[in-house]
Amino acid sequence: MTIETVHVGLPGRDYDIRIGAGLIDEAGAQIAPLLQRPRVAIITDETVAALHLEPLRAALAAQGIAAPALALPPGEATKGWPQFTRTVEWLIEQKVERRDIVLALGGGVIGDLAGFAAAVLRRGVRFVQVPTSLLAQVDSSVGGKTGINSPLGKNLIGAFHQPSLVLADIAVLETLNPRDFLAGYGEVVKYGLLGDAAFYEWLELNGPALAAGDRTARAHAVRRACEMKAGIVMRDETEQGERALLNLGHTFCHALEAATGYGDRLLHGEGVAIGCALAFELSARMGLCSQEEPSRVRAHLAAMGMKKDLADIEGPLPDADGLIALMAQDKKVQDGKLRFVLARGIGAAFVTSDVDADLLRKLLTEALKDR
Ligand code: GLY
Repeated sequence: MTIETVHVGLPGRDYDIRIGAGLIDEAGAQIAPLLQRPRVAIITDETVAALHLEPLRAALAAQGIAAPALALPPGEATKGWPQFTRTVEWLIEQKVERRDIVLALGGGVIGDLAGFAAAVLRRGVRFVQVPTSLLAQVDSSVGGKTGINSPLGKNLIGAFHQPSLVLADIAVLETLNPRDFLAGYGEVVKYGLLGDAAFYEWLELNGPALAAGDRTARAHAVRRACEMKAGIVMRDETEQGERALLNLGHTFCHALEAATGYGDRLLHGEGVAIGCALAFELSARMGLCSQEEPSRVRAHLAAMGMKKDLADIEGPLPDADGLIALMAQDKKVQDGKLRFVLARGIGAAFVTSDVDADLLRKLLTEALKDR
């Protein structure tokens, strides 16, 4: 098996992201060097457990590592206080000690929740991420953002807590349904759009093969996304500046997710893709980039069979002012001003509070009219 490694070189908290098909079968050998005693506590969800828990446990057992597991209900609703409390109490019951490791096996919900549990348990224990969704492999498992949702908004409660290792098994992506895979691809596209025009061009050429299951293409995309994220996190771990670029598309996305109830109507990665298209449209209307650029973004999303504008979201949405009010709940609001990630072109994003409110309202009104 080819294993590719991306190193996140944070002083005192550095770790590897390993990428390869079949890595779960190697998990025992990969994790053993980190352990003080042969035991990890696994947090997962019921859907992922049915597919990947036993192979993971077998790989750990092959190295003599015991692995009690807690399987939470699948879905975004798990990422709140009740299941978080349950998880922390379970880890205490399992007598997880300060030098032990918590292992998160799952998508973004599980990684964020288990990482946050590890951050607060005994004032911080180490954790390993085994991300099983494309979204988690390219974004949420890397970089140390952990947390849960408040009833008042997404990801409002959390901590920065870097994992000790990330094992991204490309083969597990084959168990995703196409919709979840493509939602994760929304985050992949984001990397090209925010900072690497050549990668975006590569995605335009290779996206269809990647979606069809080409493992080499998948490994390349996950690796490039992780390299970009690692670089950004090393330069700006706690999002004082550059890291905010990773939120390209997210101001729109968070408003759309709030409007659609954080559920099946709009998956996070779908909202990111639509949000990226809107961010480029806004950038073009503000004269920052040419009109060809948002058209090119939408053309690629359409070629991939992805949602690309508000017309692709089923059911009612608030009007433009309603959406803008939801954007104001965003964590990126500073001194009451909305902050957007806009772009001077593909691969050239930047953060600004300087957005023409009338242009934004007009853009949203028109986008809603097309529905
Ligand atoms: N998902 C955005 C970040 O990790 O900063």
